[in-house]
Amino acid sequence: MNALTSPPRATVSFRGIDTLVECAPEETILLAGLRHGLALTYDCASGGCGSCRAQLTYGSVRPRWDAATGLSARDRSKGNRILMCQSLPQGHCEVLAPLSDAIPARSEPRPARLRGRLALRESLSADTARFVFDVSEPVIYLPGQYVLLEFPDGVRRAYSMTRSSGETAVTSLELLVRAKPSGAATEWLFERFVPGSDLIIEGPYGKAYAQSPRESPVLCLAGGTGLAPILAIAEELAVHSPERRIDLYVGSRRMADIVFAERLTSLVNAGVRVVSVVETNPDSAHPLLGRTRTGLALDHLADDWPDLALHDIYMAGPAPMIDAALVRLVKDGTARADRIYFDRFLA
Ligand SMILES: Cc1cc2nc3c(=O)[nH]c(=O)nc-3n(C[C@H](O)[C@H](O)[C@H](O)COP(=O)(O)OP(=O)(O)OC[C@H]3O[C@@H](n4cnc5c(N)ncnc54)[C@H](O)[C@@H]3O)c2cc1C
Ligand code: FES
Repeated sequence: MNALTSPPRATVSFRGIDTLVECAPEETILLAGLRHGLALTYDCASGGCGSCRAQLTYGSVRPRWDAATGLSARDRSKGNRILMCQSLPQGHCEVLAPLSDAIPARSEPRPARLRGRLALRESLSADTARFVFDVSEPVIYLPGQYVLLEFPDGVRRAYSMTRSSGETAVTSLELLVRAKPSGAATEWLFERFVPGSDLIIEGPYGKAYAQSPRESPVLCLAGGTGLAPILAIAEELAVHSPERRIDLYVGSRRMADIVFAERLTSLVNAGVRVVSVVETNPDSAHPLLGRTRTGLALDHLADDWPDLALHDIYMAGPAPMIDAALVRLVKDGTARADRIYFDRFLA
């Protein structure tokens, strides 16, 4: 398996930046720009958040997802608004793009398109499985980052790595995925793929990676498979700054949906306080994690921590949970907006 190398097909210039970016076939403007080291603003790389919205000032693009929810009706009425993460340039284009002026806390690896092959699928609960993909070239990524899986019919979805790659590049990626009934990508993953199946893996992407100064206490909130990036983040922070206080709230629907209990136990042994919260909880004690709480993880976190002014907060999970947490912790609470890092999983 080799990295995907194709002749450049298009070029993009970014207004105000003296760089002409070559765009290979199937490369979005976002991928090409990041690959060239530009500090383009983005979050989900999936068409859902709108943070990569830009103005197309010359040329034309083909959108990967016509109905992307990241563009509002008002954006669309303007006629020249695009999402860089969904736009394939057709010939030469010029774009007026949002650039981040914040200096990244860590050196962010540049994304690429790689060939991937399913090596392992291990069922962990009724609808959740651990997937391991081999990649055509060693990759390095930051804990909390994600990749886009691109399936043979062109469907693309984001999935977060459950482990840090560490300092050295790795040749396999571990993901945690929940099957969604009639979901386009998860049907591939759970029903159509077998070990040996090939796909394209694009990444790494993501801004919600571990980046807390050693002195900052850390709170983590994981809902469902949001545990994937949060585990990678908590594990790295616990190893690199064992003196730091870390509290991790893990939300699951039922006791039987709790996954990666051994890794959560290892975090407890490393000094992390893990609070396991189950929505429907007839039993109340998990064989490895002990007593669990009942209800919503966000409610428990907010009740336990009325003052969050000193904390760095990492969150991942279903979009409604993240949206509710932003209102409760930042808008109506004491958490600092510039110290909260999150991935909203599109449902
Ligand atoms: C940054 C990020 C990280 C994520 N990490 C994980 C993870 O680690 N584990 C996990 O289980 N899930 C994760 N997700 C959610 C995941 O990407 C999928 O949304 C989920 O698996 C359901 O996908 P589906 O195709 O099966 O369902 P679908 O219902 O087919 O699609 C899910 C959503 O994708 C969007 N969509 C619809 N059509 C298109 C299109 N043509 N192109 C692009 N998007 C479209 C819509 O918002 C839709 O509701 C993550 C999402 C994001 C944004
Ligand atoms: S819509 Fe492009 S980064 Fe979210």
